Amino acid sequence: MTEEQFSPFFERIERPNPDKAVDFQRHGRLKHLIFGSQLNVPLLEKLCRSADTIRTMARTVDGHRSLRNLLAHKRAMLYFTQPSTRTFLSFMAACQILGITCNEVRDPKTSSEVKRESQTDSVRMFSSYFDVIIMRSQVEKFAEVCAYMMNDLEETEQRSVPIINAGAGSDEHPTQALLDMYTIYRTFRFPQSTAQESSRLSQLKREYPDLVSGPQQKTYLFCGDIARGRTVRSLATVLAQYPGVRMFFVAPDHDALRLDKKLESNLIASGVDIRQFGSLDETVDGQPILAQTDCVYMTRIQREHNSPETETELAALDLEPFRLTKSRVNQLKSFSAILHPFPRDRVVGEIPTEVDQDPRALYFRQARNGMWARAALLVHLFDASEDLIYAHSQSLQSSS
Ligand code: NCD
Repeated sequence: MTEEQFSPFFERIERPNPDKAVDFQRHGRLKHLIFGSQLNVPLLEKLCRSADTIRTMARTVDGHRSLRNLLAHKRAMLYFTQPSTRTFLSFMAACQILGITCNEVRDPKTSSEVKRESQTDSVRMFSSYFDVIIMRSQVEKFAEVCAYMMNDLEETEQRSVPIINAGAGSDEHPTQALLDMYTIYRTFRFPQSTAQESSRLSQLKREYPDLVSGPQQKTYLFCGDIARGRTVRSLATVLAQYPGVRMFFVAPDHDALRLDKKLESNLIASGVDIRQFGSLDETVDGQPILAQTDCVYMTRIQREHNSPETETELAALDLEPFRLTKSRVNQLKSFSAILHPFPRDRVVGEIPTEVDQDPRALYFRQARNGMWARAALLVHLFDASEDLIYAHSQSLQSSS
């Protein structure tokens, strides 16, 4: 991506996010999804409801069939020039659930980029053939630039399609924040299990009197590569909207990894109580930080961003204090959620596989939630939420 491709959009890129968000919505609905703070609380709650509806419908053959008709007239381009397993596959599965036909470009060597076609021209070409472009790139702000390009095309009454940022450099990963929030909503909903039993929440309240349902009034602990983890940036920004949220950031003592000043000041400006630590074993107010945590968000050290000097410096770091071992898991509250955007590093083992059996280890469910949450996002972008509700009611009638 050259400077020349970015330059027409510089002024727009330099604006604060709330100003940009206006360009990425239409009639109160998302037009493009570029950064986490576009996911406000009412929208998240709506998307979580749609995701629940889709997952319920997908349990029956009839429900599956009517989901597949919902967006069968749409085509999606998955333009992923950076490695991906979960984001790519869950978007593809989400498209398949909704009947959207998808195609992919993953290796630019197979596209005309080898003939010196610019990436912006490539994206504009995709918009000629497809109805949505879901894109991951190592270039920060590339998805944002493409969204402006689409808006400019629309201004001149040319073809324009929604852009979904599926990961942009070390900057933002809003759809990961969406599925993380869906997992957090589901976990902290504390549903009633049986009629005889009092609700799980009132049982838990005996041990944790201040506990409330929902993402608010909770302590979130982020551990690992805080500075370069785009998932951390997007999720922390989204969580900052909820009242009473406290965030613990646990990272090795290195500038490349610690919470960066920009995110720190944004979170403080949103009223979040932030604490930073150099180990998972630290305490605050005389109590272990893990014992005060409602949700742990583990991340891997993102070696691919290392410069040769950082590589040498990071190789010398002791990562043991940043591993969520079984004994550390034992310090967590009984209802806590252990999340990880994945992939986890099998050599470092920031979450050892022995933790996988713990009921609080939600990372595999979290990844599956990505499929439902991304399907809900596509339904929203294509303005098919009412159709989804109708299809659900029809499938309920036909099964009764
Ligand atoms: C993350 C990513 O690509 O940013 N993975 C994901 O999308 N689930 C995290 C990572 O690569 O460490």
